[in-house]
Amino acid sequence: MEELFTFLESEGVDRALLAGIRAFREQYPAEAETADRVPRPEYFYYGRKTWELALAALLAGKNLLLAGPKATGKNVLSENLGALFGRPVWNVSFHINTDAAYLIGTDTYDGQAVTFRPGPIWLCASKGGFGVLDEINMAKNEALAVLHAALDFRRSLDVPGYEKTDLRPETRFIGTMNYGYAGTRDLNEALTSRFAVLDMPVISEENLQKLISRRYPRISVKIRDQLVKLYGELERKAESAEISDAALDLRGLLDAVALMEQGLTSGDALEMCIVNKTFDAYERRLIRDVIEARLPADLTRDVVFGA
Ligand SMILES: Nc1ncnc2c1ncn2[C@@H]1O[C@H](COP(=O)(O)OP(=O)(O)OP(=O)(O)O)[C@@H](O)[C@H]1O
Ligand SMILES: [Mg+2]
Repeated sequence: MEELFTFLESEGVDRALLAGIRAFREQYPAEAETADRVPRPEYFYYGRKTWELALAALLAGKNLLLAGPKATGKNVLSENLGALFGRPVWNVSFHINTDAAYLIGTDTYDGQAVTFRPGPIWLCASKGGFGVLDEINMAKNEALAVLHAALDFRRSLDVPGYEKTDLRPETRFIGTMNYGYAGTRDLNEALTSRFAVLDMPVISEENLQKLISRRYPRISVKIRDQLVKLYGELERKAESAEISDAALDLRGLLDAVALMEQGLTSGDALEMCIVNKTFDAYERRLIRDVIEARLPADLTRDVVFGA
């Protein structure tokens, strides 16, 4: 993934850490069997400091928990890390019904014999993968108990009724969890203790400019900068609790640009992707005012993309 290395060098990520990754990749070369699971990311994660914290933790052999508000790039970073380390990735979405059988695997009877059908955690452990435990805090504690031995110094899957499996040395787990809005659950202490916890920051103005320009190279710089300022203003209003964080959604901002590219006016696109994310009429009014102060509602594609 030379392009990603070049990107990280240009972002100023510590050279010693990057050298560490190259050494890791040499020690654990890609394997044909799992090659199609090694991510080829379309988008890169922006944030030098966050990169450095994540790389140091993973190089030290630790598991990483990415915790933060929605749309702070937790999944993008996880994918990027899998790509950078050159490891196959298993993505596991955790929810209230996640159980050990799903995570580790189940015995199935095919009419002749009982065979073990491995689950994603078992595959990840035995193939030296990176396991992305997505929204790990949404699962019930009982289901997570099977991960304890895998995540600490034992580095093994040791579950009653299953053959014991040791994790290959290059195996890592990256948990993600959301906090900052209703419906969020805490992660129990025993599990949190087994991760290095990285607080995901909201993207900086400078990085947001870079991100938008990379994704939409033809966007007018003036309008890009207004969108960045708009995002900053929504962030400040959410912080001071003038508005909820429903509309503070980077995904929404980027989606709005995509809709403008399809020919919607700026007003319609921002209405769908930002304003309507809240269902409170008063709050919508407030957000609309913030937007209108920055960007006229009738900008067309030609103006936005500076044709
Ligand atoms: N620092 C960042 N660098 C690059 N992209 C970012 C960054 N922050 C947010 N994004 C963008 O925001 C969008 C959402 O990213 P992602 O799905 O990884 O977020 P998330 O933190 O997993 O969100 P959620 O908690 O809602 O699942 C993507 O388009 C991503 O590129
Ligand atoms: Mg996510």
